[in-house]
Amino acid sequence: MSDGVQSKMIRSVVRGFGAALPKRVITNRDMEAIVDTSDEWIVQRTGIRQRYVAGDDETTASLGEAAARAALANGGLTPADIDLIICATSTPDNTFPATSVNIQNRLGMSHGFAFDVQAVCTGFVYAVTTADAYIRGGLAKRVLVIGAETFSRILDWNDRTTCVLFGDGAGAIIIEATEGEGTVADRGVLTAHLRSDGSHKEKLYVDGGPSTTGTVGKLRMEGREVFKYAVGMITDVIQAAFDSTGTTADDLDWLVPHQANRRIIDGSAKKLNIDAAKVVITVDLHGNTSAASIPLALATAAGDGRIKKGDLVMLEAMGGGFTWGAVLLRW
Ligand SMILES: CC(C)(COP(=O)(O)OP(=O)(O)OC[C@H]1O[C@@H](n2cnc3c(N)ncnc32)[C@H](O)[C@@H]1OP(=O)(O)O)[C@@H](O)C(=O)NCCC(=O)NCCS
Repeated sequence: MSDGVQSKMIRSVVRGFGAALPKRVITNRDMEAIVDTSDEWIVQRTGIRQRYVAGDDETTASLGEAAARAALANGGLTPADIDLIICATSTPDNTFPATSVNIQNRLGMSHGFAFDVQAVCTGFVYAVTTADAYIRGGLAKRVLVIGAETFSRILDWNDRTTCVLFGDGAGAIIIEATEGEGTVADRGVLTAHLRSDGSHKEKLYVDGGPSTTGTVGKLRMEGREVFKYAVGMITDVIQAAFDSTGTTADDLDWLVPHQANRRIIDGSAKKLNIDAAKVVITVDLHGNTSAASIPLALATAAGDGRIKKGDLVMLEAMGGGFTWGAVLLRW
């Protein structure tokens, strides 16, 4: 991890961003026809108003490919310029090969290398941290980091306590090796803090897998239990990122949180005295898209001109495992 006050060093700087969503939108009103729920209940408890759901012709890899192509175009790059692809996903097209390798092939690439990262909703934070380590270790120069999910395929559509919460989508950024001064004024990833604790498995998991049931399984969650831990875990890692760089909530331009639940996001920002106007919210439009939610939110806020070059941006997430983490970067 880089802590920001050293001599010249390699930084992982964002060069491009992109996103992709399935064609089909399911509103809360549509959900009322599927399970015993209401728009009012969903909005009040979660802030979610709609979610996108993949059709038969859309998969994690196809959405990831579309997000990757958008990020390449945004960065003025082609697949030939990429030497590593990391895809964060818990809903791969196949148990193996990795979705990232599938995307590599879809992009017409046979050079470089690709692998997946699986840390559920914290996947994108883990993937950016991993990409940064590869770049600073000299193993890669330009990395395509993707978060792509089709959680609709692992939902129990009869369980109203979970199926209303999740959606499908993909987002991507490209980060590239750039020399920095070793201070927090540098562009690029400034610090990263990752955590996991497997003792919380039963609170949020999928009840199947290749080595246990031989099936894909469905998502199971004790929502109230997850909620109980979320704000504390999220604020701990954000505070660690501030402390290790000597920055504070006042220095921050944007908090781009994992979009699980509006109440968790608002509670975390409030506890850290982060101004609500600095928080990027997309959970109303996308629902919880797990590893895709942060890059979707980044693409939304950078795309509409809110996040600008030089802005200090905090990414944070918490999810199944539990896993949790934060990355502080200068855009
Ligand atoms: C899931 C969550 C929104 C539920 O909200 P809650 O206030 O904790 O609600 P509860 O689970 O206590 O349920 C309250 C009531 O609403 C009902 N309910 C649950 N889902 C419902 C739905 N979709 N529509 C209507 N009613 C629903 C419950 O059955 C319960 O009814 P009861 O009191 O008659 O038993 C909330 O716990 C949460 O956001 N947890 C975090 C989940 C999360 O973000 N996970 C992902 C992390 S990456």
